[in-house]
Amino acid sequence: MEVRDVIAPVQGELKEFDRYFKDAIKSDIGLVDTVVRYIVKRKGKRIRPALVLLSAGACGGIVDASYRGAALVELLHTATLVHDDVVDEAPTRRGMASINAVWKNKVAVLMGDFILARGLLLSLDNGDVDMLNITSRAVQRMSEGEILQIQRARRLKNDEETYFRIIRDKTASLLSACCEIGAVSATEDPEVRANLRDYGEHLGIAFQIQDDVLDYAGIESNTGKPIGGDAKEKKMTLPLIYAFGAAPSGESKRIMRLLKKGVDGENLKEVVAFVHEHGGIENAQKKAKEYQQLALSNIAALPDSDYKRSLTGFTDFVINRSK
Ligand code: IPE
Ligand code: IPE
Ligand code: MG
Ligand code: MG
Repeated sequence: MEVRDVIAPVQGELKEFDRYFKDAIKSDIGLVDTVVRYIVKRKGKRIRPALVLLSAGACGGIVDASYRGAALVELLHTATLVHDDVVDEAPTRRGMASINAVWKNKVAVLMGDFILARGLLLSLDNGDVDMLNITSRAVQRMSEGEILQIQRARRLKNDEETYFRIIRDKTASLLSACCEIGAVSATEDPEVRANLRDYGEHLGIAFQIQDDVLDYAGIESNTGKPIGGDAKEKKMTLPLIYAFGAAPSGESKRIMRLLKKGVDGENLKEVVAFVHEHGGIENAQKKAKEYQQLALSNIAALPDSDYKRSLTGFTDFVINRSK
C-alpha cells in the first residue's frame, strides 16, 4: 500500500489544506520567507493532515475546522522536525540539506519557534479551543519523549519499556492528536472521539517502530535520511534492543563497547550487521503488527466508508512503508 493510495479519498482536500498551510507561515521578514519557501518546496508525506481529514470524513464529514486542524498539526510537526534536526545534528531531511545545515542552528531554532507559534495562533484566532487543547498536550508529550530519549542515550539504557514510553510520547502522541482532532471536528460523540484517539496512538507506535526498522534496513534514497543514524546517536531503538536480547553475551558486550565509544564508518556497519543477524528487524516488525491489530480494533465500529477503508489501509502502509 503506497501513501498515495491511502490518502486518495482526501487528495482534493489536501490541496485545500496546502493553501491553509502556506498562508499560515507567511512572513514579511526576508529570511523567514526564504526558509519558509525552502520548507514548502520539499513537502513531506503529509500523513498527519491526511489523518485529520480521513478521521473527520469517517466520523461524519470534513468541515472548515477539519482543515484548520490539519494545518495546525502539520505546522507543529514541521516545527518539531526543524528542531529535531538541530537536536540530532542531522545533515539531511526529506532528501535535502536540513535547515540547520543550510542556515545554522540559530536560525533553525527560531524558525521552529515561529512555525509552532503560527500553528497555535491559527487555532486561537478561530476559537478552536478543543483542538488547541489536544495539540498542546501532544506537544508537551513530544518534548518529554525527546528529552527522555536523550536521558536514555546518555546511559545507553536498553529496556523495551522505556523505548515504548519514548515512542508513544515523541511520535504516537501527535498521530493520536491528528485522529482525535479530525473526530472532534466532525462529531460530538465522546466514544467515537476516544476510539479515534486510540487508533492514532496505536498507529503511531507502529509507525515509529517501522521508522526505527528503516533506520537499519531502509534505503537512503527512499528515507531521505542516512542509514544507521540512530546507532550513531546512541539511540536504543527496538531492532537494536531485540538484537541485544538474542545475541550471545560476548558479542553483545563487544557491540555495546563500540556504541559507548561512538560509531561511524566501519564500526557503524558492524552494528547494522549485528541488528540484522540477530533478528532485530523481524522481531521489531512482528511487534509493529501487534499494534496494527490494536489500531484496527479501535476503528472496527465505525460505519463503512471510503474514509474508513483508508484508515484501515493506513495501518498496512505504516508497517510496510519504505519511506
Ligand atoms: C518523521 O515523520 C518524524 C517521525 C515521527 C519519525 P514523517 O516520516 O511523517 O515525516 P515527513 O513529514 O513525511 O517528512
Ligand atoms: C522524530 O524523531 C522527531 C519527532 C517525533 C519529534 P527521530 O529523531 O527519531 O526521527 P527522524 O529519524 O529524525 O525523522
Ligand atoms: Mg530525534
Ligand atoms: Mg532525528
